[in-house]
Amino acid sequence: MSSGIQERSDVDQIPVAKRPATSPPPRPQTWLLKVIMAATGSVFIMFLLFHLAGNLKVYLPDDPQGHFNEYAHWLRGLLNPLLPGSTFLWIFRGTLVACLILHVYSGLTLWIRAHRLRGRHPRKVHATKHHLIGRTMLWSGLIILTFIVFHLLDLTIGRVVESKQFSTAPTYTLTHGATTTEVTDAYANLIHSFERWPVAAFYVLVMVVIAFHLSHGIWSIANDFGATAHRVRSLILLLADIVALVVVIGNASIPLAVLAGVIA
Ligand code: HEM
Repeated sequence: MSSGIQERSDVDQIPVAKRPATSPPPRPQTWLLKVIMAATGSVFIMFLLFHLAGNLKVYLPDDPQGHFNEYAHWLRGLLNPLLPGSTFLWIFRGTLVACLILHVYSGLTLWIRAHRLRGRHPRKVHATKHHLIGRTMLWSGLIILTFIVFHLLDLTIGRVVESKQFSTAPTYTLTHGATTTEVTDAYANLIHSFERWPVAAFYVLVMVVIAFHLSHGIWSIANDFGATAHRVRSLILLLADIVALVVVIGNASIPLAVLAGVIA
């Protein structure tokens, strides 16, 4: 009769690398999903800061409408004449959509795995600010996803459909020396949109949600990449909060400024 101890010592004879795994790791592996979350999340952070810089042109004292429309037009023709027409903008949009799909897929998979592992008796953690925000990441993410669909229908796709079908979308004439170009009046679209107070309120609320998602996201990226030393962690927490605050204050101020009649 073989004893359990003997079987155990037999197993110990097998080199670790050749021992059969008791259960294969889930596919795609968790570390890969975390890397995808971090990489795509970083693309969104850069996009948000870039988008904010463009949005803030509404505050330029001298002809904000001209500056804002000039910027929207510049975006469409980026890397001309190396790439024709709006090719770069479409590559940029394609990258954002691919990142969004990967981010949502990885986030949902990680969330489901964590819930399965936690089982019926979840671990008690200290209710720190980041743990509380961390628990709402799935819901804040879904709110942001809904916002993106609304935002595109409102300010990008909606306006294009409107202009093609009814020719009602406002246009603006850009002047460069002797040449003039007729472009969509992105500035007027923005003002019209935010003059509807429920839309303005929705934007402000979503910006607060984005700030929480962003702040926890930056902290998680740093954590997953090993920035766990006490001082580095405190610095990253501070940086995460600063970026989140800049995005929320910068963006949310725009619908509020339109409602208050500061920009019109
Ligand atoms: C108050 C805050 C915001 C304002 C005023 C704003 C304004 C605008 C405007 C005017 C456009 C259309 C630009 C054009 O026609 O050229 C646009 C496009 C877009 N916005 Fe925002 N935005 C805000 C916040 C956000 C946020 C938080 C996100 C992401 C979560 C976002 C994602 C996008 C995307 C993906 C596009 C489409 C870009 C393209 O493909 O042309 N925006 N935004």
